[in-house]
Amino acid sequence: MRKKIVAGNWKMNTTVAEGVQLAKDVLAKVSEVPADVKLVVAPPFVHISSVGAVLEGSSIGLSAQNCADEVKGAYTGEVSAKMLASVGVQYVILGHSERREYYGETNAKLVKKIGLALGEGLAPIYCVGEKLEEREAGKHFEVVGSQIKEVLFTLSAEQMKSVVIAYEPVWAIGTGKTATSEQAQEIHSFIRATLAEQFGALAEEITILYGGSCKPSNAKELFAQKDIDGGLIGGAALVADDFVAIAKSF
Ligand code: PGA
Repeated sequence: MRKKIVAGNWKMNTTVAEGVQLAKDVLAKVSEVPADVKLVVAPPFVHISSVGAVLEGSSIGLSAQNCADEVKGAYTGEVSAKMLASVGVQYVILGHSERREYYGETNAKLVKKIGLALGEGLAPIYCVGEKLEEREAGKHFEVVGSQIKEVLFTLSAEQMKSVVIAYEPVWAIGTGKTATSEQAQEIHSFIRATLAEQFGALAEEITILYGGSCKPSNAKELFAQKDIDGGLIGGAALVADDFVAIAKSF
């Protein structure tokens, strides 16, 4: 049985006080979520200790949205995987399309980040996905295939066991456009088949989340697909009721 996860990527939203309140609101409703669905929240760095204090002792996982590609030292403005682990972070989103697009994150950089995160015992939520022009040119399998191979094929099977994958078609993120459940399932199954080339039967155990305008109204259909094991939620994760409603859609 694969682990089901619904993770909220808060991006650069909320003040610390608002984030603490959001975490409290989610926590107040966590008992409504099926026991086999793991909720995870990914607040901005400066919120992590305060939000972590709210979630302490609960079943809700704590994630960061990024980490540095170096261990420590003269890298002004960066936050290391070790720092995150030291404040109780368990997951880290890596390779989000916004990081790839606006901050020049390459697959090569992501290999370093994933290695550092795993070395600190963090579970990477590794994001892949094609841009609109790549889908229109029929290149989505090629793009996603190389995002998987160039980064995840560098890991050992033991390391791969800790990785969660999120497929997020860039054209669906924050646009209100969702991939159809058939489009999403097609890529999720392709990702699993690609993983099987390197990791064999382990591919069946890897959690693959869908992201991109996932909301209460479409989560049920998406999560009903064979290879969709949950969601990485942006906008809808900022409203506790919506976030929890999505997690109840299994
Ligand atoms: P969205 O964002 O749900 O607002 O489309 C998803 C994401 O980028 O993780």
